[in-house]
Amino acid sequence: MKLTIIGTGYVGLVTGTCFAEGGHTVICVDKDAEKVKMLQAGGMPIYEPGLEALVKENVRAGRLRFTASTQEGVEQSAVVFIAVPTPPMPDGSVDLSFIEVVSREIAGAMRAYTIVVDKSTVPVKTGEKVAETIKRYCKAKVDFDVVSNPEFLREGFAVDDFMKPDRVVIGVSSTRPVPAMKEIYAPYNAPIIVTDINSAELIKHAANSFLALKISYINAVSVLCELSGANVQEVAHGMGMDARIGRKFLDASLGFGGSCFPKDLSAFIRISESMGYKFGLLQEVQRINAEQMDRFVKKISDTLWVIKGKTLGVLGLAFKQNTDDVRMSPAIDLCQRLLKDGARLRVHDPQAMEKARPILPEATYVTDMDEVAEGCDALIIATEWPQFKKLDLERARKSLAHPIVFDGRNLFDVEEMERMGFLYKSIGRGKG
Ligand code: UGA
Repeated sequence: MKLTIIGTGYVGLVTGTCFAEGGHTVICVDKDAEKVKMLQAGGMPIYEPGLEALVKENVRAGRLRFTASTQEGVEQSAVVFIAVPTPPMPDGSVDLSFIEVVSREIAGAMRAYTIVVDKSTVPVKTGEKVAETIKRYCKAKVDFDVVSNPEFLREGFAVDDFMKPDRVVIGVSSTRPVPAMKEIYAPYNAPIIVTDINSAELIKHAANSFLALKISYINAVSVLCELSGANVQEVAHGMGMDARIGRKFLDASLGFGGSCFPKDLSAFIRISESMGYKFGLLQEVQRINAEQMDRFVKKISDTLWVIKGKTLGVLGLAFKQNTDDVRMSPAIDLCQRLLKDGARLRVHDPQAMEKARPILPEATYVTDMDEVAEGCDALIIATEWPQFKKLDLERARKSLAHPIVFDGRNLFDVEEMERMGFLYKSIGRGKG
């Protein structure tokens, strides 16, 4: 089918490319003409494993192209996806201005029946607003349907998540767009849920908030593990064996971050409030997450006594593994706190150093992860990149002025680290 995707951020670019890979003919639209030029020239604005190769392949095959013209995209496709940012406002609610602008632009460009699909994460009832807006601004007075089709991609695994989704959610207010939506997703062999638009919109916020809750739950348990001398990984393993719970998203950490969980959690709390329900459970999830970082910083300062004047090595800047994204990254938050306390930082990340540089200009950026520890008073692990597990620990121990490691991602074995002579403090494992 001929499809148009508006917005070439993480969601839009992955969606457009994977639709093309599935055999559809796709136009990706972005109002940022520079970005469009870059994509047309084969450049990539983001790092996402496997994406660059897929973009190249599909552009070469003539199934994928980029333009800055919404008019062109809407005129040439009967199905138009909205994948623009929905950033947080200072009060935690969602800024829907990009969605509104794009809805008006689509309305102005529509010449025949069009299915307008919202992929961006939006508050429940946004679909109704999009439909009202399109109706108001569509001079051609053509028929259209609005569909809610939330995305469930994880950064760093987005291509895989798109090609093999757990489920595809399609929220509609009439049956007319359903066959086209099913055809679009036919190549991906996923269970398809057809529901109403409000439920589809709620599924997204409810799912992300539940996953955030799962992480805060295990982080709270990790505190008990430290107080009692138990091991949170053993507890997570035992809990996760229960199929009703599952082991995924039970990795205790210095807290969750990124452009989705913190934002979606605040938004969901605000949405509930605006509808007259105080979602106290989710406020607690937020509180535990913030406290988890405070506890980690305290662990560092309790051990080092004074942070001012210390040189600290930090492995990881991205908000998680496999991405160059530093938005709402716990690692960046940690670095900023340590800098504020007067530390000097030597930092490394396999992908995120360029994006971190303008945010942390004071830090020294080290290309080789094994050189980070040189001359440092302690080493900190802030992101769960799997390659950090291959760190030359013997070299790190010799390089550090004091063999101290703070591990916010539980990457190493406690006994092994102690046997090697490290003072090793991780999350929820023993009295660490
Ligand atoms: C999340 C969801 O997992 C996706 O399903 C959803 O589509 C996406 O948000 C979105 O709304 O766009 P993402 O933010 O890319 O995806 O990353 P996750 O893999 O969910 O990780 C989020 C944060 O939680 C990271 O900081 C990660 O390090 C942390 N985390 C994750 C933990 O601390 N412990 C865990 O066990 C799992």
